[in-house]
Amino acid sequence: MKKPEIKTALPGPRAAALIDVDTRHVSPSYTRGYPLVAEKAAGLWVTDPDGNVFLDFTSGIAVCATGHCHPKVVQAIKDQADRLLHMSGTDFYYTAQIQLANKLARLVPGDGDNKVYFGNSGAEAVEAAFKLARWYTKRELNIAFFGAFHGRTMGALSLTASKVIQKKHYNPLIPGITHIPYAYCYRCAYNMTYPGCSLECVRWVEESLFRTTVPPEEVAAIFVEPIQGEGGYVVPPPEFHKRLHEIARKYDILYVADEVQAGMGRTGRMFAMEHFGVAPDITAIAKGIASGMPLGAMVARSNIMVWEAGSHASTFGGNPVSCAAALATIALLEEGLIQNAKERGAQLMAGLEELQRSIECIGDVRGKGLMVAAELVKDRTSKAPAVDWRNQLVQRAFEKGLLLLGCGESAVRFCPALTVSSEEIDTCLSIFADCLKAFAC
Ligand SMILES: Cc1ncc(COP(=O)(O)O)c(C=O)c1O
Repeated sequence: MKKPEIKTALPGPRAAALIDVDTRHVSPSYTRGYPLVAEKAAGLWVTDPDGNVFLDFTSGIAVCATGHCHPKVVQAIKDQADRLLHMSGTDFYYTAQIQLANKLARLVPGDGDNKVYFGNSGAEAVEAAFKLARWYTKRELNIAFFGAFHGRTMGALSLTASKVIQKKHYNPLIPGITHIPYAYCYRCAYNMTYPGCSLECVRWVEESLFRTTVPPEEVAAIFVEPIQGEGGYVVPPPEFHKRLHEIARKYDILYVADEVQAGMGRTGRMFAMEHFGVAPDITAIAKGIASGMPLGAMVARSNIMVWEAGSHASTFGGNPVSCAAALATIALLEEGLIQNAKERGAQLMAGLEELQRSIECIGDVRGKGLMVAAELVKDRTSKAPAVDWRNQLVQRAFEKGLLLLGCGESAVRFCPALTVSSEEIDTCLSIFADCLKAFAC
């Protein structure tokens, strides 16, 4: 069984030299939790410039859906690069973009009568959704959630409510956005317990918000992650989206699903909203869509995406090479990786739940498919977030050759490539358990 191999102190000498240059010339706004320098990678295994080998349970922040450098994706990229690198889909037509639009339009939940706008990132997909919702409804207000992460461009950032550092010094942002509590049942904003709560968080929107401060007929859209990502891999109750969607329908408010992190097979379905039985009006997609090539897509019902020529576009959006990578990625997802995400995700959840039975500081284990988190707490009664333990754990895991990321205030996220094997899940669980031993729990 393949294992991580750590041969030097971390970072090793070559990695340290590169980090030194990076420190002088790369934006200090990036948040590097530990000093990993990736030199090459295949599947779930990343090698640094000093020959250290790491098991990657981050997949480059939930991007490398098919694993690092999947041969079929790499081949599709090479073939496309030989034929056409760029032409700009905003002014011209080309095959890869047309084929991908045709595919995505039919893949998102709903009747398939959709149109696709292409950008380069998650933020651009959300930004486009924001603009389309305003363009179509001619309404000025929007609703989003505490804990949400929708990106960092000014429009997307206005919808984001994840960490204050992301917004500090950037005000004024776009006005008219009301943030409301998400269905984070482990830490319910209303201090209630599911299912006894009858989804107070949804009821409150209509009974309180719409009666006191936000006129529903002025609301363009509700922006919501099917499962919150950066906010902590928070899975809402099964009927949450259906109930909220019904309220949106009642007032002609658009339902915008941000599937940037949860979409593209990660949760064991092509789109996470499928778990909740809701067909959104608009879906934002990025991250896993092209296995690492930059691409964002905003898919909307055809009767909504009726904006006129010139109202929104991007020079690079829907680049042919990225579209070719996306087509290869989708084929792999459909040929078995979504099923693998479901099966390996169940194995991972079961393993974490087993650890939770004996390790007090694992307060909550949650997730769907390979979008899984373990939230660390100082003790289960107070549920005080163990932020320091989480940060130390992620660091220790790196030193043992396992790449992890945090999410939320004190959760560890597990978002490996959808190609992950049963043995790789076991290796991850065993290193994770080992790292937890350091804490008094
Ligand atoms: C749900 C969600 N939306 C939007 C974004 C922004 O994507 P990008 O960083 O590609 O702009 C992210 C990134 O983490 C995300 O998780």
